[in-house]
Amino acid sequence: MATPSRSGVFTQATDRRVERFTESISFDRRLYAHDIQGSTAHAQMLAEVGVLTPHERDQICATLQQIGKEIEHDVFPFSIALEDIHMHIEQALIERLGDVGRKLHTGRSRNDQVATDLRLWVRDALDRIKDGLENLQRAFFDRCEGDFEVILPGYTHMQRAQPVLAPHYWLAYCEKLARDIDRVKDCRKRTNVCSLGAAALAGTTLPIDRHDVMQRLKFDSVAGNSLDVSSDRDFVVESAFVLSLIAAHLSTWAEEWILWSTAEFNFLKLPHEFCTGSSIMPQKINPDVLELTRGKSARVIGHLQTLLVLIKGLPLAYNRDLQEDKPPLFDSFETVELCLELAAPLVAGAKLNREGIAAKLDRGYLDATTLMEYLIQKGIAQRTAHHLVGSLVNQAMQQGVSLAELPLETLQAAHPDLDESVREILGVDKAVAAFRSYGSTAPSEVRRQIEIWRSRLYQTDPAVLKSDEGAITLEK
Ligand code: ARG
Repeated sequence: MATPSRSGVFTQATDRRVERFTESISFDRRLYAHDIQGSTAHAQMLAEVGVLTPHERDQICATLQQIGKEIEHDVFPFSIALEDIHMHIEQALIERLGDVGRKLHTGRSRNDQVATDLRLWVRDALDRIKDGLENLQRAFFDRCEGDFEVILPGYTHMQRAQPVLAPHYWLAYCEKLARDIDRVKDCRKRTNVCSLGAAALAGTTLPIDRHDVMQRLKFDSVAGNSLDVSSDRDFVVESAFVLSLIAAHLSTWAEEWILWSTAEFNFLKLPHEFCTGSSIMPQKINPDVLELTRGKSARVIGHLQTLLVLIKGLPLAYNRDLQEDKPPLFDSFETVELCLELAAPLVAGAKLNREGIAAKLDRGYLDATTLMEYLIQKGIAQRTAHHLVGSLVNQAMQQGVSLAELPLETLQAAHPDLDESVREILGVDKAVAAFRSYGSTAPSEVRRQIEIWRSRLYQTDPAVLKSDEGAITLEK
């Protein structure tokens, strides 16, 4: 098959092996809808500036729509001889419209065309990722009320550290995902720039109107330098980074829940719809979705590396290497989208093992820091109080008791200011209630954060909430 890109300069047909080596239709067919969108805007602009007649424009636009439908319904023939999606659609147009079809590529090159298609595709894909992140945020948030009373051991270094309210834990993920959403939105800004009209690398002598195309495709601006934009794949690399960090966040969550669902932790019961069995051990309920969420993050993070290495040696402007941007880019988006889709129902369906968690909550001296801060409030220097409580913990460990159970003599031997009243601040429930700083796990603080998040996620009326530190006005 003769491809529209092989001009009269060629005297021989393409070697079959070269066709197989250079084709991208096997993966860039995903761009078909965006290629048609870009070509339609280009044809409309060409008619505006008088390069196409209105009738030619209408023929081209209608035929492009028809081709789009055929691809959508899987009745469009693909062949590696036509290299990529751009050639397939243009060739079909020429077969159906003859010379009118041959006019579509006026004032553009495949270099600005592919960059435009890819920007349109990435823009839509970023919007889907944003939706997926918001959906997952709501799944975390929706756990807050039901689990409000539950106290969890908080860890640092995977060692028991201080108690935290379960809703504080759920909102921690809302915060991480909020930063991910910000990054997605920010990346969208740099993606949403019109490349079309840069032509091969230097622009065109024809009277095209790039701002007209920009408006039709709902881009925010027109790229100012044709040499730069025909080769610019920063938006691809940046998307791969944004997706990598999302994947890393999902992976840390997955790792945590894999541990929490073990018999050793027994904090969590995972919904059976999201677990698989073992072919040999009938008792097994394996957290495969979580494991694969963790595992797939490796691919996504690897794709970022691939893309950075791909662009690092490329002189201006377009080089065919850039075709290799698509498999990692598509895979990163598709993988993260799928992980997000599964994470939300998993978060909603998992049950905290309240009894099991509460039964072991007195382990690990989670109230030791509270005791230290109690002493600080009595005027003891932090380092002194730190050392003193450390030795009390040591004695409690030796006696196999909690701090609250230490006899009065032991407490007073440690410091004369320690009397029976100290028992009022000891114990995990009291330790949680004693927190007070902004953003801490104190029930009143967590309640305030829940209301802020409710307003952010469900667009409820902004309220003015009072706090010890003054009035806080919620943002819409
Ligand atoms: N399939 C190509 C790509 O993805 C389209 C651009 C081809 N441009 C060219 N000058 N050969 O990069």
